[in-house]
This record gives sequence, structure tokens and C-alpha cells, in this order.
Amino acid sequence: MLVLAGGFCVSANAREPVRTRHAMVGTQEPLAADVGVQVLKDGGNAVDAAIAVGFALAVTHPYAGNLGGGGFMLIRFADGRSTFIDFRERAPAKASRNMYLDASGEPTRDSLDGWRSAGVPGTVRGFELAHRKYGSRKWADLVGPAIDLAERGFPVSYALAESLKSARNLSQDPESKRIFQKNGAYFAPGDTFIQPELARTLHRIAQNGVNEFYEGETAQKLAEAMARKGGLITLSDLKDYAAVERAPLTGSYHGYGIVAAPPPSSGGIGILQMLGMLDGSGYQKSGFGSAAEIEYVAEVMRRYYADRSQYLGDPDFGKLRLTSLLDPAYIKRRRDSIDPNRATPSTQILPGLPAARDGGETTHYNVVDAQGNAVAVTYTLNEGYGNGITVPGLGFLLNDEMDDFASKPGSPNAFGLIQGELNAIQPGKRPLSSMTPTILTRDGKFFMAVGAPGGSRIISAVLQVILNVVDFGMNAQDAVDAPRIHHQWQPDKLYLEPGISPDTIALLKSRGYDVDHSPGLVLARVEAIISKGGWLEGGSDGRASGKAAGY
Ligand code: GLY
Repeated sequence: MLVLAGGFCVSANAREPVRTRHAMVGTQEPLAADVGVQVLKDGGNAVDAAIAVGFALAVTHPYAGNLGGGGFMLIRFADGRSTFIDFRERAPAKASRNMYLDASGEPTRDSLDGWRSAGVPGTVRGFELAHRKYGSRKWADLVGPAIDLAERGFPVSYALAESLKSARNLSQDPESKRIFQKNGAYFAPGDTFIQPELARTLHRIAQNGVNEFYEGETAQKLAEAMARKGGLITLSDLKDYAAVERAPLTGSYHGYGIVAAPPPSSGGIGILQMLGMLDGSGYQKSGFGSAAEIEYVAEVMRRYYADRSQYLGDPDFGKLRLTSLLDPAYIKRRRDSIDPNRATPSTQILPGLPAARDGGETTHYNVVDAQGNAVAVTYTLNEGYGNGITVPGLGFLLNDEMDDFASKPGSPNAFGLIQGELNAIQPGKRPLSSMTPTILTRDGKFFMAVGAPGGSRIISAVLQVILNVVDFGMNAQDAVDAPRIHHQWQPDKLYLEPGISPDTIALLKSRGYDVDHSPGLVLARVEAIISKGGWLEGGSDGRASGKAAGY
């Protein structure tokens, strides 16, 4: 057992990270990791492998892997350039500000359930943009492994069987029930799961290219089903959908370069702001997992999440004050307001320059190739299996990403997050996201790729894994497995995973924290790859059933 100074032990069953010499893929579903490794071995680059993994996860990890959702791809090339591909869903043209409020003006569940909860999917367009600009293999060859998995089927893992059994939303839609159950019974581990409709959709995408999804048979069927079922997405929404290339946010921390996700991700701003508050604070001197260290990190989180509640949204729809949010003088003022011995009540921390609703289930994967190119992708259907609706004849699930907008700006969502006007619903707008794919560099070379699913907890989890590696010297596996904390300003609670000692918890309570340490609490599931001494080191979170693999 690795016991660290303070109140954490990493785990009684600490695992060695996976180590490879040349290239690595880390995902939350092992068959998809194997697909990526094969693309790399066949000479594809990290972007090729990331696209093939993304298509494969849409088959093997329907919980979050998708064609009907959206996400972000952060790329850092071996020559030092970096880019960010935003394929976040957009609100359909028929969407309107109050569409999810009832007669008394209160938010309903319609942003999560039913055909009207889906935003215009971006994944296929995003992969096409990444491929056209940065890929090196044939498009059809990258879709091919996913077609095989859907057509021939694959053995259902224990994790998938359990997940399908507990998916409430899948049994409410007849098409989903037909596909994701076996004649009314659940799939058992070891059963073969074949998805013929999805295989045919993937075949058309492979043969006809991306326009198949946005203008061809797939688009027509999706738009027809939407019109029949009272959904909002039309053929022109699909035709109009564009993935966008944006400049990543950049910064530095303790000698490492940080390449981070820009808005509509709220994550990159969060990582840079929180690292900025920690830098120079000496917080780490009290020792990993000590009450003093946890308190300092929690206070930093509290301050960032307060800002998140008000200042972030789709950059194409409003001016965001990113320069002010990252201004060192502002960050210093926020740091100076931390009392290292006492919790600051959230009522005393207002969004500081003068608030977000957000779902929980998503997936993240990383790819590093033999040339040193690195890709970090987080993509999602929002909730596990999205809104649970499978488009008849197409075989893929729809997202319920519209719930990431603020249905009622200023009111808390299912995660207790408050979001502001900048994230109100508008046609064509992208909802604010917590997805936080992040890459670190050292001496101008790739050092680390990291990211996670977990809604509002993604940002705090990615921060802690970075701190575990940079400030506490953990390897990739220990860094993702170590118990985590989370504070998001409102609700004013400090969440603590199992593994934090009772003495530390008692100290934190005595310092004024309202602590939630429910048994079984999971604060995100992180994937990380680190480059160290000529090796790649992969950590796949012990809270999930993923895999890091390479050659
Ligand atoms: N749907 C989760 C997120 O984008 O943050």
C-alpha cells in the first residue's frame, strides 16, 4: 500500500500503470482501445486513431460513445502547434429561451426526456473536420472497425451488462428496448451484442462521407422521426451544423505548459484559474491529503465555480470576459480571499468579476502516437445513453444535451449548478460544457493527456490529477485512482470520496465544512497518459472498466 503524507492512502490494491515505448491509447472501454492501438500500429497518426476509437465507442460503449451527441477534441502536435475541434451540439432553430418551463415558469424534465431534449448532433462532423485537416488514413478505414463490431457483434462485458440493466431511459423507448434488451430480457455478460441498424448507418457514413449523416438518408430519417415525434431538429438544422476549430487556452504551472479547452468548455478556464490560485500558495507543503491541503484546494474550487455560474457560455453568442477571468491580478485577489484555516461560506463568495446546468455522463479518451502527437477527446450524449431514444432504423441514441443550457438562468440544476444569462437557450447556440480535455507539456514536448466524464465534477477531477502528478509525484495510475474531493460553490458542500481518513474528515468539519462523504461516492472517472523517461505511462481510472494499451 502506498501511504502518502496526510490522510490518503492511494489504494490497498495499487496497480502499476501500463507502460509502453512508442504509442498509447487510454479509453473507458477496452475493445475501443484495441481499435486505436491497431490504427497506430498500421501507421495511422493520433488523430486517425482518435477518430477510429470514437466510432468504435459509439458501438461498444453506447452509454456515452456516440454518433448522436457531441464533444471536444484537443490536439497537440509534436511540432508544438495545438488546436481544438469543437463539435458540441447546437440548439435547433426552433428552440426558444423558455421552452423547458412549465406554466408557472419552473423548469420541467423536458430538457432531459423525450425527443425535444436533443441538440443537433456534432460528433460525425467533428471527426470529419479532424480527419480532413489532420488525418492520414482513409476515412472508410477509420469507420471500418466500428462497422465490424456492430455487424459481427462483440461479447457483452460485465460492466456493459450491469449498465444496460440499470438504464431507466432505455426501457422507455420501444426502439431502444428492442435493441438494448434481448426479447425483453437483459443481456448477460458474454452474450454477443449485434447492432445491424447501427452497422448500416456506419456503412453509409464510411462510403458516402459525412454528408450522409447531415444531408443523406441518415439525415432524412432523423428529421422525419423528429417531425413525427414532436422533436425540433429539422433537415436544415442538420445541413447547417458546422464543427468549429478554435484556439486552445494556454498557460503554465510549476514548469509545465498547459494546453486547455476554450469555451464553450468551462473546463479550460477552470483549470487555468484554479492552477493560478494554487501557484505560489505553497498549499502542497502541508502534504497530500492533509486537511490543510484539501481545504486549500476546496477553496480554490469554490471560487472558480462561483465564476463559472455567471461568466461562461457559447463564445459565438456573447462576449466572454476570458482575459479578466485569467488576469493574474484578479486571480491573486481571489487567492488572497482564502483563509487557510477556515471554510469561507459560499454566501460570501460571489462571482468575483464583478454562474451552469450540466449533465453527468460522458466519456474521455487519450491517444499518443509514436511521433509525439497527442489527442485528448471528451464526447457525450449528456446523461448515460442520452435521452434513451434510438432513431428507428438508424441504430444510434440521441443526446439530451439541451439540458446543459440554463432552462431558467439563476436557478440550480440537477447538479446544483447555477448558470447565467450567457448560457440561456438560443437557436444555433452551443450549451456550456464541463468537458475538460487537457494536455500538459514539459520543455516543449508532450508530457500528459488527461480528461474525464462526470458533469460538474470533471473540472475538479482533472485539476486534482494534474496536481497529483505535478506536485505530488504520483505515477499515472496512482494519480487517477487516488481519492478525490469536490466543491462547486453551490451547494456549499465539500464532497469527499471514500479513502479519506476519518481524522481528516473530523478536522475539515471543525474548520467549518459541510461534508458529504457518502459511501460509494464517485467523483468522475479519469483517463491519463504521461510521457516519462522514454516511456508512455497509462492510468485508466479504477472507478471504471477501461484500458490503457499500446506498443
Ligand atoms: N454534458 C456534460 C457536459 O458537457 O459538461
